[in-house]
Amino acid sequence: MFFSFFLPFFISLLITCAAIDSINSTHPLRNGDTIVSARGEFEMGFFSTPGLPQNRYFGIWYKKISSNTVVWVANRDSPVTNTSGVVSVTSQGILVLNGTKMIWSSNSSRSVSNPIAQLLDTGNLVFRDGNNIIWQSFDHPVDNFLPGMKFGIDLDSGLQRYFTSWKSVDDPSTGKFTYRTDRGGYPQSLLWEGSKVTYRTGPWVGSGYSGFPKQDSTELYRIEYVISPREIYYKFDLNDNSESAITRLVLTPNGDTQRLIWNKQTHVWSVYLSYRVNDCDDYEFCGGNGICNINSSPRCECMKGFHPKFQENWDTADWSGGCARNTQLDCKKGDGFIRVSGVKLPDTRLSWYNTTLTLQDCRKLCLSNCNCTAYSNTDFRGGGSGCLLWFGDLADMRGYSDDGQVLYVRMAASDSEESKKSSTSRVVVIVIPLLAAVTVILVLLLLYAFRKRKLKRKGVLRLDGEATNKIGKNELDLPLFTILQIARATNGFSSDNKLGEGGFGPVYKGMLDKGQEIAVKRLSKTSRQGIEEFMNEVSCIAKLQHRNLVKLLGSCVEQGERMLVYEYMPNRGLDSIIFDTELCKSFDWLKRCNIINGIARGLLYLHEDSRLRIIHRDLKVSNILLDHEMNPKISDFGMARIFGGSETEASTTRVVGTYGYMPPEYAIEGLFSTKSDVYSFGVLVLEIVSGKRNRGFKHPAHNHNLLGHAWRKYNEGKHLDVVDPAIMESSNHYELFRVIQIALLCVQQYPEDRPSMSSVVLMLSSKIELTIPKEPGFYSERNPEQNHSSSSKCDSESVNEISITRLTPR
Ligand SMILES: *[C@@H]1O[C@H](CO)[C@@H](O)[C@H](O)[C@H]1NC(C)=O
Ligand SMILES: *[C@@H]1O[C@H](CO)[C@@H](O)[C@H](O)[C@H]1NC(C)=O
Ligand SMILES: *[C@@H]1O[C@H](CO)[C@@H](O)[C@H](O)[C@H]1NC(C)=O
Ligand SMILES: *[C@@H]1O[C@H](CO)[C@@H](O)[C@H](O)[C@H]1NC(C)=O
Ligand SMILES: *[C@@H]1O[C@H](CO)[C@@H](O)[C@H](O)[C@H]1NC(C)=O
Ligand SMILES: *[C@@H]1O[C@H](CO)[C@@H](O)[C@H](O)[C@H]1NC(C)=O
Repeated sequence: MFFSFFLPFFISLLITCAAIDSINSTHPLRNGDTIVSARGEFEMGFFSTPGLPQNRYFGIWYKKISSNTVVWVANRDSPVTNTSGVVSVTSQGILVLNGTKMIWSSNSSRSVSNPIAQLLDTGNLVFRDGNNIIWQSFDHPVDNFLPGMKFGIDLDSGLQRYFTSWKSVDDPSTGKFTYRTDRGGYPQSLLWEGSKVTYRTGPWVGSGYSGFPKQDSTELYRIEYVISPREIYYKFDLNDNSESAITRLVLTPNGDTQRLIWNKQTHVWSVYLSYRVNDCDDYEFCGGNGICNINSSPRCECMKGFHPKFQENWDTADWSGGCARNTQLDCKKGDGFIRVSGVKLPDTRLSWYNTTLTLQDCRKLCLSNCNCTAYSNTDFRGGGSGCLLWFGDLADMRGYSDDGQVLYVRMAASDSEESKKSSTSRVVVIVIPLLAAVTVILVLLLLYAFRKRKLKRKGVLRLDGEATNKIGKNELDLPLFTILQIARATNGFSSDNKLGEGGFGPVYKGMLDKGQEIAVKRLSKTSRQGIEEFMNEVSCIAKLQHRNLVKLLGSCVEQGERMLVYEYMPNRGLDSIIFDTELCKSFDWLKRCNIINGIARGLLYLHEDSRLRIIHRDLKVSNILLDHEMNPKISDFGMARIFGGSETEASTTRVVGTYGYMPPEYAIEGLFSTKSDVYSFGVLVLEIVSGKRNRGFKHPAHNHNLLGHAWRKYNEGKHLDVVDPAIMESSNHYELFRVIQIALLCVQQYPEDRPSMSSVVLMLSSKIELTIPKEPGFYSERNPEQNHSSSSKCDSESVNEISITRLTPR
């Protein structure tokens, strides 16, 4: 839903005078002429937009890039309606648009001896007298914020530098939204729609804005925020090693502030950061004293000690009335405070601050003023410093699970934490030892009962553990378990221990005598089809050791039983988390990123680093298991193939695998190689990033699957549309962009275009430049695999299980 702001403006230019970067009194600039900055970064002249071809605007745009992106307009509200526009400078220090408007005029009677208006490579148009800058366009921004510009207030001169949106993408005239720095109290930035505040960037709290956990990319640029007696401003500059990068902030006509970065490969502006992404970003969505939390349902709740002012409205999801105190403050009787952590600090327009005071002083100050309702630090770096006081209702707060600041809210003595502390601690003294004693007794009882039950089972099962199997013993060196051991571990294959039912039999959870937890895959005796896969899996994985591969502890081949014993993965399959509407919320970008990296390393090991070259052939989200630290482990080697040293590609007449993850050459021709796994990896990455399945992906606007959707959005420069909203805020958008591009490289149609896993690992872990992905394979819904009738089979997916889908090539 990002506003498409990249429409090229077809500027009708006739002549280009590349050598000249300035206008002087003898050389004005006429309609049709342009001026280019010294290194050719920016260009200046008259332009029209496709929507308003009759209007001529004088402005500045990027010269170096193919999209004619206008960054500054002089006469947005007074276009020249014919071709007689002229821009000239005079000795009075005047830069005028002939006939229509003065861009700027000096009031001083002092006449400028050598007036020059020069376009700099930063995109700044300066009017100067010798080296003395008298006026510059950076002091009068329109909607674009370029590196080196300042956004804020010069307190000496009173100059306020702020942004006003265009009316529409096609119309540069003054739009509805302005984004300005407010210094009513502690400085913060407010977005106004007319006279109404619609969004607030929280106050600066040392390392960033409060309530702005969206990381900005720091590889590209650094941010500076200054609050001094002379000026207040926000500014960003490109890092020295990324000077060729092109990035800007823009206030879009629909009131979003976006960070855009020019993608040199696709030649579009990519949205890296959007300031307003959800309801909680709307100003005061939950009313006064309410806290908005995007991950909770309902979104709004009152702070502790407060209740909805209008309960009925509140219950019908109209939260605008906000919250009121349960107990009114009573300054004379003495109030206390409660600590509210992980919040976006409230609106600071009614606040007071002093950056040198400590939190203790701050508390005293707040208590000494009966109107003070809360206090906090101004800077949260280190242990925190400075003092910020609020008066009146606390407006526009948000809650964050693991980000945000700490606020101390004033409460009547009866509601505050201090008054409860003493009584709570008394309770604790009694309750804790009591609880401990009860727990110990319970555990002992349970242990006793458990042992008794185990002994009973042992007798009943009476399985003999003599038989051995030559595969296990002689050839593979894999520890052998007896049926008795496994039966004991799994409580006699009790149904309570069953984790799931796989393609060729059930999977049980168990615990060995030593206390080690295991997962047992038991090939069902009636299943003929599984034997081959079973043997295959044993021979494939027996020798493999990698932290991102599930570990095979041993096998059991006895009395017609075939079982594989794995380490147990407490967090089950990745699919049970990322495709779950609730669980996915706790699964932030960092976790997903670690998982992507882990899978890539595991796969690299299979392909290149182990002694064997192994192709997994059934890589998918449900085959990625998670250990207790959420490390991913690739599992299920039932379809894997071992390749000889020089062999790189093979073909089969029996195509096995899962729809949605199979590359075209495999699904259609039965050809497979390490590049088939790379394709599946790409699909997996897109599923992890989007939280959606490739198969069955639906979008109202088109018939593509997830790959097609990602490909489309990538080419439109709107890759963030692909991203799971649950990770939007926790993610570094620069990393996201790279990961999506890498995934698209992996799913390219032709195997030879796809990178090897070693380059994938390199691309993921470094900042090396990525190539441009070509069209993905199978990205349209109307691909051959979709027509196949047996495709529903693979929907049954569970832990430690193979879902085999057979497809005989025609
Ligand atoms: C104005 O600029 C032109 C071309 O850049 C130059 O030839 C001319 O000498 C300049 N005039 C003055 C007064 O500086
Ligand atoms: C161009 O338009 C301006 C007003 O916008 C007018 O003053 C001027 O005379 C026009 N020039 C020509 C050549 O039509
Ligand atoms: C401004 O335009 C008028 C005609 O519209 C022309 O006579 C005059 O010379 C122009 N002034 C400059 C400084 O170009
Ligand atoms: C400049 O002149 C304008 C009117 O032409 C006036 O409103 C403004 O106050 C003057 N500014 C200064 C700094 O003299
Ligand atoms: C902040 O507090 C300190 C210590 O009380 C005082 O010296 C200083 O002047 C105060 N600063 C401002 C800006 O009020
Ligand atoms: C508290 O606020 C009231 C009005 O809201 C004002 O009259 C009064 O002076 C304030 N008291 C202090 C100590 O600031």
